Amino acid sequence: MKTPKIFIACDVNNVKKIKKIIKETSNLKLKFGYKFGLEFLNSKNGRKFISTLRNKITFGDYKLADIPNTCASSIKAVKDLKFNYITIHINSGKEALVGAKKVSGSTKLVGVTTLTSLNNRSLREIGYDKNLKKIVLHQAKLAAETKLDAIVCSPHETKIVRKVFKKEIITPGIRLIKDNKQDQKRVMTPKKAFQNGATSLVMGRSLIKGNIKKNIQRLIKELK
Ligand code: C5P
Repeated sequence: MKTPKIFIACDVNNVKKIKKIIKETSNLKLKFGYKFGLEFLNSKNGRKFISTLRNKITFGDYKLADIPNTCASSIKAVKDLKFNYITIHINSGKEALVGAKKVSGSTKLVGVTTLTSLNNRSLREIGYDKNLKKIVLHQAKLAAETKLDAIVCSPHETKIVRKVFKKEIITPGIRLIKDNKQDQKRVMTPKKAFQNGATSLVMGRSLIKGNIKKNIQRLIKELK
């Protein structure tokens, strides 16, 4: 089996904690990348810290959801951070995706499908009548058509997505056995998510809350 790739969701707002996460996950058998979301990106020293990172796989989880001009300009505005990955909501629309892809250069542009914190009921609340899986399939087709480099979806949809999207499939909504779902609705264990066809996983609270080293050991054990 290829070395499993895990993006650690660094959802904290201080540099000290990030340094600890990086230190405790370096030189292990797993291949880790570091995903920075809105919490850290908007924190006081977040941007500056990311600019100092070298030789790490970095993932700017901006989840852009805006008009084409704003999406493209925002990607250009963070070029200096040299992210390996940047996210955009597929719901931003075809024109925004095409425009973003034009300016993303060597940064992989990742299309976010339907958030793993939503289910059919929550989709109806915001006015979507179609079934969740159909929506995700539709979004995946658009990601393929607009030549995005990767997709984020729940591990429950990887098989559907794979039918139409041939590149990287990254799945959040991952929980170690017995861990609490918290605000996530569509969750799965790491092993099952890989078996379902995920090419990499995003894991936050299951790894960074409590004792990081112990959590990583649990992850390694569960992946065997
Ligand atoms: O702590 P937990 O493992 O639930 O964190 C999941 C991470 O993945 C968060 O940083 C969240 O923003 C991100 N994410 C997600 N669902 C998506 C896309 C991204 O949970 N569809």
